[in-house]
Amino acid sequence: MNIEKIIEKMTLREKLLQLSQIMLSESNVDEMKELIEKDCYGSLILAAFSTTGNGDFNSVELEKLNEIQKIAVEKHGIPIIYGHDVIHGHKINLPIPLALAATFNPKLVKKGYEYVAMEAKNDGIRWTFAPMLDISRDPRWGRIVESTGEDPYLGCKMAEAIVKGFQGEDNTNIAACAKHYIGYGASEGGRDYHKAEISDYSLRNYYLRAFKAAVDSGVMTVMSSFNEISGQPVTSSKYLLTDVLRGELGFDGFVISDWEAVKQLIRQGVAETDEEAAILALSAGLDMDMIDNLYIDNLEKAVHNGKISEEIIDIAVRRVLKIKDKLGLFDNPYAEYTELPKQEIRDVARKCAAESLVLLKNDNNVLPLKKDEIICVMGSMAFDTKNIIGSWAADADYSESVSVYEGLEAKSENIIHYNCHIPENDTMRNLNQCDKVLIVLGEAKTVTGEANSMAKTELTSAQKFVIDRAKEAGKPVIGVLLFGRPIALENNVDYFDALIYAWHPGAQAGNAIADVLYGEMSPSGRLPVTLPKYSGQIPIYYNCPPSGRDVDGYYNPDAYNYCDVTGRPLYPFGYGLTYTTFEYGKINIDESSISIDDINNGKKVKVNVTIRNTGSFDAAETAQCYIRDCKSSMTRPIKELKGFDKLFVQAGESKTAEFEIGFEELGFYNSNGRFVVEPGEFKIYVGKDAWCDEYVSLRVNHLY
Ligand code: BGC
Repeated sequence: MNIEKIIEKMTLREKLLQLSQIMLSESNVDEMKELIEKDCYGSLILAAFSTTGNGDFNSVELEKLNEIQKIAVEKHGIPIIYGHDVIHGHKINLPIPLALAATFNPKLVKKGYEYVAMEAKNDGIRWTFAPMLDISRDPRWGRIVESTGEDPYLGCKMAEAIVKGFQGEDNTNIAACAKHYIGYGASEGGRDYHKAEISDYSLRNYYLRAFKAAVDSGVMTVMSSFNEISGQPVTSSKYLLTDVLRGELGFDGFVISDWEAVKQLIRQGVAETDEEAAILALSAGLDMDMIDNLYIDNLEKAVHNGKISEEIIDIAVRRVLKIKDKLGLFDNPYAEYTELPKQEIRDVARKCAAESLVLLKNDNNVLPLKKDEIICVMGSMAFDTKNIIGSWAADADYSESVSVYEGLEAKSENIIHYNCHIPENDTMRNLNQCDKVLIVLGEAKTVTGEANSMAKTELTSAQKFVIDRAKEAGKPVIGVLLFGRPIALENNVDYFDALIYAWHPGAQAGNAIADVLYGEMSPSGRLPVTLPKYSGQIPIYYNCPPSGRDVDGYYNPDAYNYCDVTGRPLYPFGYGLTYTTFEYGKINIDESSISIDDINNGKKVKVNVTIRNTGSFDAAETAQCYIRDCKSSMTRPIKELKGFDKLFVQAGESKTAEFEIGFEELGFYNSNGRFVVEPGEFKIYVGKDAWCDEYVSLRVNHLY
């Protein structure tokens, strides 16, 4: 398509319409047809209100979408791009993104998103506002549920997988949108939409990494974030939206604002009028205005008055049209329905959910369950079919949901139930009859997601009441925790003999949990975020720098962090057990010293470890490789994840985990914002989680 020719023929108003997105829902289809006849908006977002993730949405029928599209194409010659928040599934939901990160299996996640894209495209959606790549270190923030956790490296791997899954290798699926650029996850105190303070050093070394990976994977769009960073709203930051995003990261798609964020510049106090807000945002590099119509209502006049040049508008229009062309919308603007492979979608959702389950403890091998054991289930979450899907599932087909109880019943006839909240009820005797008690606890999806931050992230007294009742029978107690965020379990963890952190696992929750509980597969999820012991420890994350005094409580149980509690989390980043035992062999490195020249020229050292399954259960183990830069011009994290290898190892067998360490892995962004490797000693750790302590040394030598 000759985009330049199209732009040449467009009026200024037509151009500004291409830079504007408004809402389409079932209720305004006719109105929209009339509007598009006159004004060809660039994009319609399928939504009925802001915070779409907190409600349900009735898709607009394909026929209607095509009718509106026909008007746009035949009357104006430019197709509309239909956008919608498709976050971790469309009809049949995968687990929440935080849980998907816990799989440590990007290949599987990519496959999952290919199906998600297929379902969304089938509903006429060609653009999703995902993945959310905000580094999240604060479980109080409701949107941690949408993130890939606290780690940049894991974030990068997930970003690549999700972007490629959504867009397809040839960009024929649906366009992805890396959001929220940037720093939204660092909102102070976990309060949604709040300010963030991020130094340029942290920005480049932590927050931008996953966005860079998304850009390198060809992400077509980026959404700017609501927050300000150190006094500058991102919506109006030329530094962030142009210099860093395009200049440093090399992004060449288009940027959309977050919901009404251009208008919010007034509330944030950096613009006085709508016109000023629109000029600030567009000049900063924000190409498309979501919902508030500030571009279309103000910029025509601003151009005529010489306040902004038409060239800036042309640049943004060019970016938008290029993406429409890349998606094939000019050639094939209409949506088509195809029969979907539903069983395959269920199967991949089940596998993702099963691989996301993190076994936190398993005393005396209480798990796996045996089919002839009588299991007494407690906790109303066991029957839930809605909250298990998690936040941001506006289009979920709840008839697809499998509750934990249903999943268990499908495996064994020996499932019974006790409702401890009804005194004197007829299920009371079940507790005494059973062999093991299974408590299913969790949080509602409505306390996770956008605008749903929580100051208290511990178990509630009602949940503790259920645990106390369960303990009364004196039987082994197994916990399944269905939470959208890592909660602080305090000493309650001691009440459980076995404990599985199951997140909000999506439509196949029940089947996946039953697969793991009954040992049809060993748990293999790993924590993508630190599990604090006390909520007062928040924020707590593994890749912090060492301090001058011995206060590194994350790693050192004796370190002094607080007068009243330990500084150590309950479980570290990367933690997770299996039903077997793995023995790690010696860490091998092919060169223990290398010149900086070789590193700068792309040479890598090879590191490997043999892992032996010494138990009697076939299982997957995720070997993790961390590095520590022992001396550098700026402080570097005590440990930084630089590789992981998830290996399926049969009982009694061995496999080798392999890692390559070079420029990318050893470098960091220094005080000048340059990515450098500094000579000196590095420790290369390989182990089960961030607490691993076996390492080999690598010396990077100066040239002289
Ligand atoms: C959210 C975005 C979302 C957008 C559109 C905003 O409120 O912050 O993540 O994509 O709404 O629904």
